[in-house]
Amino acid sequence: MAERSLVLIKPDAVRRGLVGEIIGRLERKGLAVDAMRLRTMDRALADQHYAEHVERDFYPPLRDFMTSGNLVALVVSGDEAIAVIRTLIGSTDGRKAAPGSIRGDFSLSNRENLVHASDSVDSAKREIALWFPELAE
Ligand code: TYD
Ligand code: MG
Repeated sequence: MAERSLVLIKPDAVRRGLVGEIIGRLERKGLAVDAMRLRTMDRALADQHYAEHVERDFYPPLRDFMTSGNLVALVVSGDEAIAVIRTLIGSTDGRKAAPGSIRGDFSLSNRENLVHASDSVDSAKREIALWFPELAE
């Protein structure tokens, strides 16, 4: 079933020049880029985007990282796009992510792991409304 996901190419990936590599992998898989924007996250947006994590010990350094520079926000669509993109990016900890995945190939960190992608239809809807209100259903 066709789905949309919110993808963030995080500040570490922008700093490392991996934006083209990451978008290329999504495109070559057959997914479509429906919207794309270079921007920064302020603290308020970080708190909303990561609402499920704001009370966690790892959140303050995560927020510092996510607000540390430009990122690229995208809406990506395709058949079962949410699960397909989660597989393409790999598990959260780059040290444990499978080779062949984006995190597995390029990240050695549990925090600076290059990409965010929505993890469910509900979170995709919520996150797209946050980042691309003009596309919200
Ligand atoms: P989470 O939603 O669990 O991972 P994912 O990005 O794979 O959906 O966590 C959100 C982000 O928080 C994760 O990408 C990196 C960061 N994080 C840490 O810095 N330390 C941690 O222990 C965890 C679990 C996540
Ligand atoms: Mg998550």
